[in-house]
Amino acid sequence: MLDSWCTLLLAVTLFSSNNVASQPAPSLQRRIAAAIHDAANATGPIDYTAFVNPFIGTDNFGDVCPGASMPFGMAKFSTDLTGYAPAGYVADPTQKIRGLSPLHDSGTGSSLGTYGNFEIMPLLCPNGFNTCTTTLLARERLRKLNTDDASPGYFSQTLDNNIKMEATATRRAGLERFTFPSNSKPFFVLDLANDLPNSFAGGTLDIDPAKGRITIGGRWGSSFGPGRFNYQAFACYDLLDGGKQKLDEYGVWTGDTFGLDAKGLGQTHLNLSLNLIGGVYQSGALFSFANKPKEVNIRVGVSFVSTDQACANADSEVGSATFEEIRERARAAWNEKLSKIEIDVGGTPPNITEMLYSSLYRASLTPNNATGETQGVFANTDTFYFDSLYCRTFFPLMSLHSPVEFAQIVESYIDGWRKNGWMPECRANNLPGWTQGGSSADNIVSHFAVNYHNEAAALGVNLDELYSALLADGDLNPPEWNTEGRQVNVYNEFGYVPFAVLDVSSTGRQTREGSRTLEYAFEDFGIRQVAQLLGKTEDEARFTNRSLFYRNVWDPSVTNDGFKGFSQKRFMNGSFAFQDPSNCSPNDKNDTRSCSLQGDNLNGFYESSSWEYSWFAPHDTAHLIQLMGGNDTFVKRLDHFFDAGYYLAGNEPSFQTPIGYHYANHPTKSVDRVREVVFQNFDITAGGLPGNDDQAAMASLLSFHLLGLYPVPSTTQFLILSPFTPKYTIHNSFLNVSTTVTTKNFDAASVRETIPRGAAAYVKSVTVNGAPTASRCHFDFYDVFRLGGDVVVEVTADRAVVDSCGGTVPESISTGGFSKAR
Ligand SMILES: *[C@@H]1O[C@H](CO)[C@@H](O)[C@H](O)[C@H]1NC(C)=O
Ligand SMILES: *[C@@H]1O[C@H](CO)[C@@H](O)[C@H](O)[C@H]1NC(C)=O
Ligand SMILES: *[C@@H]1O[C@H](CO)[C@@H](O)[C@H](O)[C@H]1NC(C)=O
Ligand SMILES: *[C@@H]1O[C@H](CO)[C@@H](O)[C@H](O)[C@H]1NC(C)=O
Ligand SMILES: *[C@@H]1O[C@H](CO)[C@@H](O)[C@H](O)[C@H]1NC(C)=O
Ligand SMILES: *[C@@H]1O[C@H](CO)[C@@H](O)[C@H](O)[C@H]1NC(C)=O
Ligand SMILES: *[C@@H]1O[C@H](CO)[C@@H](O)[C@H](O)[C@H]1NC(C)=O
Ligand SMILES: *[C@@H]1O[C@H](CO)[C@@H](O)[C@H](O)[C@H]1NC(C)=O
Ligand SMILES: *[C@@H]1O[C@H](CO)[C@@H](O)[C@H](O)[C@H]1NC(C)=O
Repeated sequence: MLDSWCTLLLAVTLFSSNNVASQPAPSLQRRIAAAIHDAANATGPIDYTAFVNPFIGTDNFGDVCPGASMPFGMAKFSTDLTGYAPAGYVADPTQKIRGLSPLHDSGTGSSLGTYGNFEIMPLLCPNGFNTCTTTLLARERLRKLNTDDASPGYFSQTLDNNIKMEATATRRAGLERFTFPSNSKPFFVLDLANDLPNSFAGGTLDIDPAKGRITIGGRWGSSFGPGRFNYQAFACYDLLDGGKQKLDEYGVWTGDTFGLDAKGLGQTHLNLSLNLIGGVYQSGALFSFANKPKEVNIRVGVSFVSTDQACANADSEVGSATFEEIRERARAAWNEKLSKIEIDVGGTPPNITEMLYSSLYRASLTPNNATGETQGVFANTDTFYFDSLYCRTFFPLMSLHSPVEFAQIVESYIDGWRKNGWMPECRANNLPGWTQGGSSADNIVSHFAVNYHNEAAALGVNLDELYSALLADGDLNPPEWNTEGRQVNVYNEFGYVPFAVLDVSSTGRQTREGSRTLEYAFEDFGIRQVAQLLGKTEDEARFTNRSLFYRNVWDPSVTNDGFKGFSQKRFMNGSFAFQDPSNCSPNDKNDTRSCSLQGDNLNGFYESSSWEYSWFAPHDTAHLIQLMGGNDTFVKRLDHFFDAGYYLAGNEPSFQTPIGYHYANHPTKSVDRVREVVFQNFDITAGGLPGNDDQAAMASLLSFHLLGLYPVPSTTQFLILSPFTPKYTIHNSFLNVSTTVTTKNFDAASVRETIPRGAAAYVKSVTVNGAPTASRCHFDFYDVFRLGGDVVVEVTADRAVVDSCGGTVPESISTGGFSKAR
């Protein structure tokens, strides 16, 4: 739906392969299968964490971090591997492990990787301190095959020399447990400089041998944003396990790949500045333990403020708790989150249960809650602060069951406007990231506002401020719009963002004119929705108009594959600048074409084709149908889009295409398409995502598909599809309501790629607390999930009889939809 940096390397995504053996231990899958089996007839409370496979999306460029984390944890403990591994870990067993580290992002496709600072690597140095392999290349090791393991709040990997590494986490700290082969002396290298993008800009390391404590702090660069900015990060490593362990040797080291391998036994201090000649800088600490303990426990705290705060975080969040105690706390916190959605486990196909709970898990893994850990313009802010912001589809999911968390994240977006003048679109590593669509925060905060305006104050969100932040995004042209805001000056003047435009007052990368116009228009719809809600009549009219600007990049003359009319970039004089609509699609034969943020992306669209982006007007599909030549052509064109291979399951602009048939009054075709999309693109293996998880955008989309719902962003409307489960209950513990959706006539045989003839799956009728809904294609958050109670979705095998909405199609602006706020 929105764009984000998912297919930053489109070419790489297209070459992706599934060829490697699945690396999570086979016992992990057996354990999950057994837990699902046992839960079918369970009488007591269910442990939903037992259904989660954290490794889904750790192959095939899913870029998921399987590390140990709390819900929205700032710390995510994972190993860092060689090769393309933006989240640290990858399942590919040919890649080598360089260490275990406490900071990661999950599901971001930044090609350089993100975080990975403060790596620790356990070593065997049979010939003593001076022979230890400290540098990156010297210390990297393969894993012991089929031993990788993880569950919510826990991560483990064993090296091919039989050293086992485990981690568990609190929000800003965690415990690491290392098990060594018997009778070996444990050595550890701790990295001061290296992070995944090799962006070290200076820092210090201090060993306090008496306390058994190492503190590290430094500055690093952005993984997806202007290289001139640095962020600061700090860590505190406590090595003595409350006095149960004894340090032996300790010192510092520095090295490179060309012979430098210097070690300073007994030295305790490093102070290194930015190396202006660039390259990978390698330096850190090296230490060993006395008495050949089999097990070594290390406590780690992290902070974005100071080393003192990193140590204080470890003290307050871990204290003297044991590994098993912290692990249990994390499990319990995750179970609390996951149990917001309960399903009939016995009646649901086991793979669906595993996909659903693994998706719900990832949807609460990010953004990273760095409240109290702010820096730069956010330093000492008195509100919530979340790091790593991009994707918006998980917010509709959150609005179903977690308005408190949703409100905190919305507040963090609004704080971005307070501090910077515009809400952030992309932020990573506490730094501004590259803007992709414009200001997608508009759709996130407006979604919150239209769904929760009655409770906004109680949830700590001031709607007037929220509205001011929206108006800033919509009306104020920033001098530089690569990292925040939009190029609204020319957009307003022309009614679209022109190609090759003269802009005398602002700067940015002048590409993606087609997709920027489409995204700006949908963002304007988000602003319009809040204007309407707050009774700002003039603004409502103004932004309603602007939300229709998507029409201004529609070139009715372009024909491709027999279909007429495509979005195209456009010159200032109104002429269109023709680009083949299949450019940058999976069917593009040109593998050197630039499709992303490059200056020579001439296609007019961001990481997408005109074939894909031409569907993008989620608020006005009725008019799009007209532009495309009517319902029949629209349906044929959607079919062709999928059948000819233009659809990219992993790309946000494609998110709403499978449900597009609803708007043409053919809801059974959406049901078929969603089944097909799910089974062709998702499964329970490490390669089980069709691309980058994009900070769980994919996870939330899949959750909605499985629940048989589709949320229209910035509105309260849900499209009704066919659930993959006979029954589910959503608990909203803020509104104190629970909603149970029952799929009447559910047939598990329908839960496959192609629904077999005779299997009931097509929606025949929908009732909410006994009353039939006016249409079987859509209902409203206010009438369903806010009230709670019982929803019955009756399905049938007789598709011919039910292939219409039996009432209105979902709303569109141009046919009088969204006419008043709820
Ligand atoms: C659950 O119990 C029912 C009835 O006792 C039985 O038929 C079914 O096989 C059980 N299912 C599982 C997964 O054990
Ligand atoms: C590190 O060295 C710089 C000068 O190069 C000095 O200004 C700074 O105070 C030193 N920092 C620490 C923590 O020793
Ligand atoms: C984020 O952390 C703050 C401070 O501990 C806490 O109050 C808040 O509930 C957390 N929010 C989420 C969504 O984790
Ligand atoms: C909306 O657009 C119409 C047609 O272009 C124009 O006549 C009208 O003045 C606009 N209204 C606002 C409030 O901008
Ligand atoms: C509009 O401008 C473009 C680029 O300068 C030019 O190629 C095109 O011919 C112009 N169209 C008209 C109708 O003048
Ligand atoms: C592929 O695209 C690039 C960049 O647009 C272009 O320079 C090149 O000529 C194209 N190659 C082919 C074979 O069309
Ligand atoms: C498409 O079908 C819907 C529902 O039958 C109808 O309301 C709408 O007018 C049709 N659209 C067009 C462009 O014919
Ligand atoms: C469950 O998923 C696995 C892995 O993708 C697959 O091999 C298996 O066939 C699936 N089972 C069913 C019943 O779909
Ligand atoms: C929900 O229930 C809790 C505990 O009973 C209560 O404090 C809270 O006010 C209720 N919230 C609403 C929105 O009714």
